[in-house]
Amino acid sequence: MKKKIFSGVQPTGNLHLGNYLGAIKNFVALQEGNDCVYCVVDLHAITIKQDPKLLKSNTLETIATFLASGLDAKKNIIFNQSSVSAHSEFAWILNCVSRIGWMNRMTQFKEKAGNNKENASVGLYVYPTLMAADILLYDSTHVPVGDDQKQHLELTRDIAQKFNNDFNCDGFITVPEPLIQKEFSRIMSLKDGTKKMSKSDPSSQSIISLNDDKENIVSKIKKAKTDSLPLPSTKVELKDRPEAGNLLGIYSNLSENKIEKTLTEFKGKNFSYLKDQLSALIIEKICPIGEEIKKLLNDKNYLISVLNKGTERADLISSIKLKKIHEKMGFLS
Ligand code: TYM
Repeated sequence: MKKKIFSGVQPTGNLHLGNYLGAIKNFVALQEGNDCVYCVVDLHAITIKQDPKLLKSNTLETIATFLASGLDAKKNIIFNQSSVSAHSEFAWILNCVSRIGWMNRMTQFKEKAGNNKENASVGLYVYPTLMAADILLYDSTHVPVGDDQKQHLELTRDIAQKFNNDFNCDGFITVPEPLIQKEFSRIMSLKDGTKKMSKSDPSSQSIISLNDDKENIVSKIKKAKTDSLPLPSTKVELKDRPEAGNLLGIYSNLSENKIEKTLTEFKGKNFSYLKDQLSALIIEKICPIGEEIKKLLNDKNYLISVLNKGTERADLISSIKLKKIHEKMGFLS
């Protein structure tokens, strides 16, 4: 059966291998035979202070990354969140459905707000209700994300169920399923295999950016953290070897092979052999995307036309759903 897919990516610049392997590569696979909506979530980005000029260029770069990775602008609805007002309107309604206790359990808020919670934006706190609004407005059945978004998706399901209960409308809001890869769904930092690869990491050496050139890729992989043992032959041995697990996981994911096959290929070999093979594979798969992003960024008008078309289509679907939501709420609009 056709799935209704929704996912979003923040335009915070420097999209990396984690975003690609955890999310965007799956968006591309899902576009065949499903109805897909892919959103650049600029309203989520401003939960942390943004430079308006940079936000604009990062939004275009994110669209360029979607297209360069293989998303078809005709097949999919591609747009930016702030241009479709139903998202913020429904998010407010969901703020009133959600419970404070639920928000207090969100680990991403705790991580992002750090020690100074009093100084975090209110938007950062209610970030997950906006994410729920994004997904639920389109009756989405499936949401492809990396493992770090799992808790937000569980919350989205709780919010959907509570809305249906509160307004006595079973099935009106579709309860979506997360689509998270079973293995290596969290790509880790090249400098610390226990930390997520993240745009906000202060060390650029810890991430492979989709814009990195060949020399950069070779140098970052060469300097990636390792341990002192030869590469293992079983999955069990990877449990206590996060860096080996991460590099082998990236290799498996990019080569589309099961981890067992990758382990057989590299067992007993040293890290420098794996690093040579991995650099070559990243260059083969990622550099063409980086080059295409650069090309697309030279044609801003085209990128804007993709956004405008996507906005029109997203606006149509979401405004119809929002009208029905208003009826359920008892709004005279
Ligand atoms: P964001 O912008 O942080 O990340 C975009 C996507 O990339 C995935 N990802 C990773 N996957 C594996 N390993 C990593 N190291 C890694 N880093 C990032 C994320 O899981 C995500 O799928 N809240 C979302 C954006 C969002 C959204 C939505 C997603 C807003 N509304 C509705 C799905 C549906 C976020 O901040 O993603």
